[in-house]
Amino acid sequence: MAYHASIPGFERTPLRALKSLSAHLGIKGFYVKDESFRLGLNAFKALGAGYAMGKWIGERLGIADEDLTFDRLVRDEAKKRLGPVTFVCATDGNHGRGVAWMARLLGQDCVVYLPKGTAPQRLERIQACGARAEILRLNYDECVALAAENAGKYGWVLVQDTAFEGYETIPAWIMQGYLTMALEAIEQLRDIVPTHVFLQAGVGSMAGSVSALLQEHYGERKPLIIIVEPNKADCIYRTARQGSLQTVTGDMDTIMAGLACGRPNPAAWAVLSQTADYAVSCPDWIAAWGMRLLGNPHGDDPRIISGESGAVTAGLASALTQREDLAWLKNLLRLDSGSIILCFSTEGDTDQENYRRIVWEGRYPNA
Ligand SMILES: Cc1ncc(COP(=O)(O)O)c(C=O)c1O
Repeated sequence: MAYHASIPGFERTPLRALKSLSAHLGIKGFYVKDESFRLGLNAFKALGAGYAMGKWIGERLGIADEDLTFDRLVRDEAKKRLGPVTFVCATDGNHGRGVAWMARLLGQDCVVYLPKGTAPQRLERIQACGARAEILRLNYDECVALAAENAGKYGWVLVQDTAFEGYETIPAWIMQGYLTMALEAIEQLRDIVPTHVFLQAGVGSMAGSVSALLQEHYGERKPLIIIVEPNKADCIYRTARQGSLQTVTGDMDTIMAGLACGRPNPAAWAVLSQTADYAVSCPDWIAAWGMRLLGNPHGDDPRIISGESGAVTAGLASALTQREDLAWLKNLLRLDSGSIILCFSTEGDTDQENYRRIVWEGRYPNA
């Protein structure tokens, strides 16, 4: 947290209490951490890349963890010792924007690969941070493989938000970076202890990181942790069912672009298998429901602009409490009038065109 606080422009994001909505849904509390305010980047992801890239440079310069601050990484003498660095990653959009943004802040180069089907606006935002970025005719996991291959070939530094054999250190730092989001939420909740925390997962790094912290912080009082994924890319759900790492292949055609990952991060799964309680695989309309729900607040509740991957958890939580056909799952999760829900809206309207299509034009209507 101290390192993050040293990054220019860093501020903590708001935790919204949706009082009117929780009364409407018949629960005790509904809290949403609004990551659309994070670092002006509209998503939480830069917390991970920003920390990992700082830590990587810090190690090269021999800076101890407790002394790691942003200004020490960009001093002239530090840059002279370091020489030029090129960071590379694959991304659905949000992670790449975080890497490109941090590279620019650090005065270093950056290369970013995006999978086919990525919204052009996401590419442009990454290019606007000065990165050499392109949309390839590959899916997400194939882009990750290419980024790793080219890092080896050209001596670039791979900053990937998932681990694989022989590549574990930087993904672990990325997960550590995400801890700031969870720590802020815990601080903002003060003495309120949530009973249910819904965490969306792509490769599971964010969920693993937050779950580990919830376990450590709350101990015996740890809330029920529910992992939420699109049903087209539900690798954690399948892994949980099988008890061993499962992969989803193909195009993973879902509106939840940030969660369209087919291969769990093994390090994240190691944590989730110990700390998470349930995994839910969701159709796209649940995310669309969440976007509309948060964007059109009940009563005096604050408005939250939440994108597809950000809104699916709030969408699920509200669908569970409102829909007869989901009553079985509501009962299984013990959601009742004493429940206090915490969700992380991990992105804002990162795809503005699709946001409008869903929220204004009513695409992906409730099933
Ligand atoms: C907005 C958003 N939410 C959640 C996630 C999921 O994070 P992870 O891949 O660590 O599970 C992502 C990943 O890119 C994302 O962009």
